[in-house]
Amino acid sequence: MKTFLLSLAGVLPFLSIVSSQGLPDPAALAQMGIEWETSQHASPNSNFYTVPQNFSRDLAPGTLLAVEQATNLSSYLVPSSLTLSRIMYTTTNLNGTIQPASAYVLWPYAPAPWFASSSNSSSSPSFPLVAWAHGTSGLFATCAPSNYKALMYHYFVPFALAKQGIAVVAPDYAGLGVSRTPDGTHIPHEYSASPAQANDLANAVIAARAAFPSYLPSTGPFAVVGHSQGGGVAWGYAQRQLEHPLPGYRGTVAFAPGVQVVEMITKAWNGGVGPIQTDTLLGVQRLISAGITAVYPSFNFTGVTPVGYERWNILAKVQGCMPTSGLAFAGLENHDTVTPDFTNDSTTLEFAQRTKVGGKPFKGPLLVLAAENDVSLQPEVLESIVDETCEVLEAGNSTESLEYALYEGVNHFPLISASQAEWMDWLKERLSGEAGSKKKRDCDAPKARCTKRRVKGFRTDVSVQFPLPNFLVTEAEAVWQYGL
Ligand SMILES: *[C@@H]1O[C@H](CO)[C@@H](O)[C@H](O)[C@H]1NC(C)=O
Ligand SMILES: *[C@@H]1O[C@H](CO)[C@@H](O)[C@H](O)[C@H]1NC(C)=O
Ligand SMILES: *[C@@H]1O[C@H](CO)[C@@H](O)[C@H](O)[C@H]1NC(C)=O
Ligand SMILES: *[C@@H]1O[C@H](CO)[C@@H](O)[C@H](O)[C@H]1NC(C)=O
Ligand SMILES: *[C@@H]1O[C@H](CO)[C@@H](O)[C@H](O)[C@H]1NC(C)=O
Ligand SMILES: *[C@@H]1O[C@H](CO)[C@@H](O)[C@H](O)[C@H]1NC(C)=O
Ligand SMILES: *[C@@H]1O[C@H](CO)[C@@H](O)[C@H](O)[C@H]1NC(C)=O
Repeated sequence: MKTFLLSLAGVLPFLSIVSSQGLPDPAALAQMGIEWETSQHASPNSNFYTVPQNFSRDLAPGTLLAVEQATNLSSYLVPSSLTLSRIMYTTTNLNGTIQPASAYVLWPYAPAPWFASSSNSSSSPSFPLVAWAHGTSGLFATCAPSNYKALMYHYFVPFALAKQGIAVVAPDYAGLGVSRTPDGTHIPHEYSASPAQANDLANAVIAARAAFPSYLPSTGPFAVVGHSQGGGVAWGYAQRQLEHPLPGYRGTVAFAPGVQVVEMITKAWNGGVGPIQTDTLLGVQRLISAGITAVYPSFNFTGVTPVGYERWNILAKVQGCMPTSGLAFAGLENHDTVTPDFTNDSTTLEFAQRTKVGGKPFKGPLLVLAAENDVSLQPEVLESIVDETCEVLEAGNSTESLEYALYEGVNHFPLISASQAEWMDWLKERLSGEAGSKKKRDCDAPKARCTKRRVKGFRTDVSVQFPLPNFLVTEAEAVWQYGL
């Protein structure tokens, strides 16, 4: 980082990295980026993601294609005593086409005591389960958290849950990890098509239960949790649960969810959001343009400028994920890479309508956690979507609950750590079956329960609000260095 100046504005999802000595060569930077990314992969040449010949588009969604019972953790950075499995399974994309996809299952040392005591101790253990939806990792095969040494969200979510005795099933999302069918057909990642990624999540739960029926019984309790892109996926799952219910569902937690992002981008072009979020959202427009192109090939990156498209191809050539994307776009402002005609293109609008999350009925309870100082999502915009959703609940005489909590003084990723005491208890209560029976309010007529509150932090003025996920980037190079 010595020769580069890291601009923290617009840091999500793309870092703006500008050389202090003139324009850098983006291709050389992208090459540097992908080499470092590859060094962070658990198995750089893993053939786990190669789809077996018995894959077929006629298989039912949630069908198992491959199971790696015990992933070799010697090349991962996963807390000792936890174990990992990986699965490959079928899912459906936004258009309903069957695709192969991958997921990991992170196993605790043992089930949480509050859960184990209720199960039959003379048989094999069974686990409470969280289905975890990760945030933006990138758009290429290389961007699969199941092949990242620390699974991308490490102590934020998967390690924290497994260390509490809760198993975690985490889809990579179709197009990430597994990227070709056996006949060589490319599987593009339908970025921001949250209902498609909600299918990936639901089918990962079905497939994991099929792979490990005694550890994850088919009617065992599970909750859904997601952040950012994955927050939109998690909320989208809560909507999906109404029409395609999976047994055992106990509720959803959405951190800083990326919902109605096309609408947010339109607001940004019209001056309706703050300058930092505007910069971030214009960077996100490139990703969504790629996501729309994945669903509608003829869209072909509408709304991306020629220079933006040239840089996108530099990124695509090396299959770079989030770290490398900042390098491929070095020296450009986000607004030079995109155009506003994206926002009222008829295909963009159709995509936004087909993938709409929020402002719709869902199966709760739903806990939405927002960050006051979020560089990518303005909390006021999110709150208005929460309000819209509550109006829909009331109009439909729904009895679902939606809790919205705004955490003061925190950024997009630190929100997860700041709120852990709250969401961990929330999940344990629901997974242990106490919620509902104990907590249901006595009312004359059942009605939707929408609540909003602010959470005050202690000493937020001096806390570090690191805006990116990987605060554990320093790894010991020699065995003796692991001693601190
Ligand atoms: C495909 O083959 C694998 C490995 O032989 C097997 O585990 C899996 O059940 C098969 N899946 C289908 C759908 O036939
Ligand atoms: C796990 O991987 C390490 C390093 O590649 C290797 O030395 C070890 O033999 C592997 N363990 C198993 C059980 O395959
Ligand atoms: C516990 O599991 C064992 C072995 O599967 C079974 O024989 C026994 O009946 C079970 N006990 C109860 C109380 O469910
Ligand atoms: C998905 O469906 C849309 C709408 O019907 C269609 O325009 C598009 O071409 C389809 N995508 C693919 C890859 O077939
Ligand atoms: C997409 O647009 C680019 C740039 O305008 C063009 O070079 C390319 O051929 C187009 N691709 C397709 C598949 O239409
Ligand atoms: C599309 O949006 C842009 C930017 O907001 C605006 O300038 C333009 O007039 C719009 N075009 C149409 C056809 O609505
Ligand atoms: C909601 O309840 C009110 C009052 O009981 C009733 O008039 C209305 O039709 C209901 N709406 C729906 C969508 O069920």
